[in-house]
Amino acid sequence: MITNARQNGYAIGAFNTNNLEWTEAILRVAQEQQAPTIVAASMGAIKYMGGFKTVVDLVHDLHDELNITVPIAIHLDHGNYEAAKSAIAAGFTSIMFDGSDLPIDENLAKTQEIVKLAHAKGISVEAEVGTIGGEEDGIIGDGEIAPIEDAVAMVNTGIDFLAAGIGNIHGPYPDNWTGLHLDHLQNITTAVDEAVGHKVPIVLHGGSGIPDDQIETAISMGVSKVNVNSEAQLAFHEALREFILADHDLEGKNYDPRKLLATGVQGIESALTDRISVFGNAHKA
Ligand code: G3H
Ligand code: ZN
Repeated sequence: MITNARQNGYAIGAFNTNNLEWTEAILRVAQEQQAPTIVAASMGAIKYMGGFKTVVDLVHDLHDELNITVPIAIHLDHGNYEAAKSAIAAGFTSIMFDGSDLPIDENLAKTQEIVKLAHAKGISVEAEVGTIGGEEDGIIGDGEIAPIEDAVAMVNTGIDFLAAGIGNIHGPYPDNWTGLHLDHLQNITTAVDEAVGHKVPIVLHGGSGIPDDQIETAISMGVSKVNVNSEAQLAFHEALREFILADHDLEGKNYDPRKLLATGVQGIESALTDRISVFGNAHKA
């Protein structure tokens, strides 16, 4: 699905899940929008949700129960070496091995091992060069801009798509953020495409809060997967908060967790629907 996106100039949304309701919301929006979609799970979320196999089974079961017909991938987000191996064994269909905190040679060597294991099972692999600024689920980066030579060496390991630090940050963007390094992104895309002789899909992490025009430009330059986590969390929080505050005068009668969570889920669904329209991947199933 990402190869199609790169070839046709749009991006697939990779949306992080946290629980049953979150997973259901992602799948429902994907189906409504007829958008091929990636359900992403971080190591922290996998632990929270009860393990690798639980995540895989949950996505499969909801996929069947909700009669989902659009393409759905189950993706490990920012996995370390051990997590990547566990995800491969558990039935994830795609994994990100994030060795961006390692020296580049070690990152390349470990990525190559993971590529071998994953490709033997038809699982796609994403790897990262440079680092993403900020923090996500305990993964902290200093926002190093990816050197072009590292990007080229990384695609030569045989990975399927490449995450690169281009000034992007996990979590909300600070007021003094100066924007994506779009010229550098273009240079990376040109260099990696030339190195492997085909169009390499590029992944944009830290997708929450980047102005839409920068996302659209990044997509036109080769970004084919945009990761979004915080934006859905903020929308969930805002919707739930409003509901609880409005309930104040009713002396907290709405304590049924299913009703509470349903209000937050509406927030997630509208945030993701909006992102899918910016990424251009509605009606691409
Ligand atoms: O890997 C996940 C993402 O890069 C999410 O970043 O929380 O800033 O949307 P975000
Ligand atoms: Zn990320």
